[in-house]
Amino acid sequence: MNILAIESSCDDCGVAIVKDGVDVIVNLVASQEKIHAKFGGVVPEVASREHLRTVFPLVDLALTKAKLKLSDIDAIAVTTGPGLLGSLLVGVHAAKTLAWLWNKPLISVNHLQGHVYSGWLAGEKVEFPVVALVASGGHTEIISMGKHGDYKYLGGTVDDAIGEAFDKTARRLGLGYPGGPAISKEAELAKGPGVELPRPMLKEENYNFSFSGLKTAVTRVEGSRSEIAKGFEDAAVEVVATKLLRAANQIQAKTIIIGGGVAANRRLREVIKILSGENMKVLIPDMKYCTDNAAMIGAAAYFVSSKKKNPGQWYNTEVQI
Ligand code: KG4
Ligand code: ZN
Repeated sequence: MNILAIESSCDDCGVAIVKDGVDVIVNLVASQEKIHAKFGGVVPEVASREHLRTVFPLVDLALTKAKLKLSDIDAIAVTTGPGLLGSLLVGVHAAKTLAWLWNKPLISVNHLQGHVYSGWLAGEKVEFPVVALVASGGHTEIISMGKHGDYKYLGGTVDDAIGEAFDKTARRLGLGYPGGPAISKEAELAKGPGVELPRPMLKEENYNFSFSGLKTAVTRVEGSRSEIAKGFEDAAVEVVATKLLRAANQIQAKTIIIGGGVAANRRLREVIKILSGENMKVLIPDMKYCTDNAAMIGAAAYFVSSKKKNPGQWYNTEVQI
């Protein structure tokens, strides 16, 4: 089953064609990073106008690159939320138009569900139960899954997302945007240990996070820029890794999936891989499937839609979280 998927929830316009939920035939992303970088963050109005400009040319390009005919496409999938309203509307209406014109079923996918399913694009068998961390500029959530379509929201950030905290801290330290890679690079320059910073909510018996206090603590602490960057990275990674591993142990997860842009963080990857249980597989997809992309939406759509009976109608597969 070939699914053509569209993802436009924030600033990246993605179109992909995915076969049977795991084989990515084509995955295209029109990144708006350079456009928004000069504003220091995503400008919603600009983002939706860019999506308008890029979505249909990307669909054309995807079909050409995949060397597929319309008759080879079995369904259209699209991200319906959460995200920026204007951006989402462009993708949803493009998908609805194509589904109507081409007479294909349309599958609605929740963006977080997509990030969880990026684990199915990591090239290995995913075994349930799964615990997934979605860590990006907009999210820090831990979700468990007993089987396809069966999600449990275990916890998430009560204020800033982890990526946002990296970005804001980087700005305060006079480092570039996006802040995640900039902080990691700066941290590597530290000669000694990182500065001491709090580990917010680490001891609390839940899976929630708070990063705004940590971000503020950075402004008060004394040390060189690299020591502060190291201290911040250590604190943020420790909190996220500890809670993720705690969740994995609690549900006796067989697979841990890490998605979202923060999955690029080397320290986070190392810590999770070293500390995860022997019987747990840690799947961190290729970066192009960790950051926002349409392939993960195509993967999620396949596993969710295959359980539905009536192709041809608007499916509401929104994850209940
Ligand atoms: O998933 P993503 O590309 O976009 C959304 O936010 O949806 O994630 C971008 C976020 C940014 O906040 C960026 O600073 C962070 O991911 N990031 C990192 C690293 N690379 C990117 N955070 C920590 N360490 C990194 N190496
Ligand atoms: Zn995302």
